[in-house]
Amino acid sequence: MAKTTSFSCNACGAVHSKWSGRCDACGEWNSIVEDAGISTGPAKASLGNAKGKRVPLTNLTTEEAPPQRTMSGLAELDRVLGGGLVEASALLVGGDPGIGKSTLLLQAAAAFARKGLKTIYVSGEEASAQVRLRAERLGLSDAPVQLAAETNLRDILTTIEAERPRLVIIDSIQTMWSDSVGSAPGSVSQVRAAAHELTSFAKRAGVSIILVGHVTKDGQIAGPRVVEHMVDTVLYFEGERGHQFRILRAVKNRFGPADEIGVFEMTGGGLSEVLNPSALFLSERGTPSAGSVVFSGIEGTRPVLVELQALVAPSPHSQPRRAVVGWDGARLAMILAVLEARCGIPFTGLDVYLNVAGGMKISEPAADLAVAAALLSAREDTALPADTVVFGEISLSAALRPVGQSENRLKEAQKLGFSSAILPAGGKSGSGNGMNLTRVSDLTGFVGDIFGA
Ligand code: TYD
Ligand code: MG
Repeated sequence: MAKTTSFSCNACGAVHSKWSGRCDACGEWNSIVEDAGISTGPAKASLGNAKGKRVPLTNLTTEEAPPQRTMSGLAELDRVLGGGLVEASALLVGGDPGIGKSTLLLQAAAAFARKGLKTIYVSGEEASAQVRLRAERLGLSDAPVQLAAETNLRDILTTIEAERPRLVIIDSIQTMWSDSVGSAPGSVSQVRAAAHELTSFAKRAGVSIILVGHVTKDGQIAGPRVVEHMVDTVLYFEGERGHQFRILRAVKNRFGPADEIGVFEMTGGGLSEVLNPSALFLSERGTPSAGSVVFSGIEGTRPVLVELQALVAPSPHSQPRRAVVGWDGARLAMILAVLEARCGIPFTGLDVYLNVAGGMKISEPAADLAVAAALLSAREDTALPADTVVFGEISLSAALRPVGQSENRLKEAQKLGFSSAILPAGGKSGSGNGMNLTRVSDLTGFVGDIFGA
């Protein structure tokens, strides 16, 4: 049987047939390493004696009960998981170093353990004493969680086999090493091998497993993308360093809605849940000011109100700046282009800054109209009324498209004391329950109505 050698990039996980100094896939220098050999041979050589077990689809319901879910009691975490932790499932939690992953997972471990799930927390980064110290600070020292400071995969699997826990937390997958793979811990082949062994072992043994993964500079989980495919659920823990808020976001979930978020606040005593994120994101808002607009968005299954802030100022540079935090830069460029080309409002020679307050990240196109409103309000130096929320998608022709779940967006706004909304005409936008609705059908009309420009 021929052994083939392959090479993979430590930064992005791309596989190459030969070594080179720079990865063509991600452009990183000196990141390509040799993988352990993969044996190939004639297809026949891999045929075994026994056939794999098959089950007719129609028999599934009678043969197996649906998987059990366990609620942690941390409502925000349970929501992101799609209604509790599914038994024998594999999760990956990614996030920047220092964002609070270990804190979150220690709290989660304690919560699940208190609900009767036998839990082992394996730390590859901190000694048991350090983890215990942290648990004390979080007020969790009486939780029945087993701690292990271990990085050798074989020892961990042996422990799981012997102890038969229901949940294992591995913090982090980059520190684990398998002695069957020749490269250093944290390399692509180690991360891949460790993730594969842990997840497949856990599935066989009926254990749920949570892997913690670090994130590279450009925001991807360090190590191969393939780890994301091996697990059932991928969660990202994100937030801005200077802010207290932390957002746990489901980017993939086999057992629940993706894009669901849970909001936490980092305090001296660990992470506390934020059950009404809109109130939190708007809490720092003062008197209405030019460039500030409240957007009524939908995150996963619930509405969340956030404040968008724009600043438009004469640029000292020949190439004006376009800076955006919490939203897509390309989408901002598109809206500026639509405002210029369709509505005749130029932004040449002006620096444009756009910020989503509170460290929130928005990806919905429904924020288009709110962004346009913030830009216009900043440019004209006119504040929108403080009791108004805005949402709607803008097309390249400057027409406004209705967006989904208008009714929910309006309800949430009303709950928080807003009494007017600007939204696209058409669609099933409901009555607004006594809210003062301004329906606009295109951006030019909006500019004229609201700003008189
Ligand atoms: P940590 O969970 O160690 O982050 P990660 O595992 O993602 O690297 O969190 C570290 C940060 O959280 C650190 O900057 C201190 C802060 N922190 C608090 O503010 N309060 C707390 O109770 C704890 C435990 C940590
Ligand atoms: Mg950590």
